[in-house]
Amino acid sequence: MSYSLPELSYDYSALEPHISARIMELHHSKHHKAYVDGANNALAQMAEARESGNFANINRLEKDLAFHLGGHVNHSIFWTNLAPDAGGTPEGEVAAALDEFFGSFGAFKAHFQAASLGIQGSGWGVLAWDPIGARLIIQQLFDQQGNTAQGTVPILQLDMWEHAFYLDYQNVKADYVTAFWNIVNWDNVAKRFAAARANAGASLLV
Ligand SMILES: [Fe+2]
Repeated sequence: MSYSLPELSYDYSALEPHISARIMELHHSKHHKAYVDGANNALAQMAEARESGNFANINRLEKDLAFHLGGHVNHSIFWTNLAPDAGGTPEGEVAAALDEFFGSFGAFKAHFQAASLGIQGSGWGVLAWDPIGARLIIQQLFDQQGNTAQGTVPILQLDMWEHAFYLDYQNVKADYVTAFWNIVNWDNVAKRFAAARANAGASLLV
């Protein structure tokens, strides 16, 4: 198996009252697990297709891999972007970069919230490093894999699928997004930002 479900560094109840233990348990042990299994299954079926020389299902398998691997990557990042007793405002390089590329932390938050709440259907709000432009951008990621450019590196992601909030917030998505800011792990964002800025361009600009 190529992919496995990562352990969380906190308990399912640790993000309460912002995200309930019930959502966290279902989200991690069922939803994320299904993406891991789906990605492994797609790889296994691709190997079978190569062995048999029968590629009749290759279009479906490529879509399955993109969707399920996307789900695995997105959730793996999302869990580390969150922490109990977190939130507040970023400091240091992240704070300076948000000012540089979005004008201010407040303007970044407003843009990120609007993009997240505006997603039509299921998807993610994403703060990403674009190594070609050497800048931070905000993306609307559709489903688990759509509407982004190759090579951008996610720094901070917010799951806007209904499974991420509906048990706690029903249709009031804005309250979920507001609560998210109380559990953003800015230390993790800073580590991801530093790593992306140092390394992400190397593989694109050769
Ligand atoms: Fe999710």
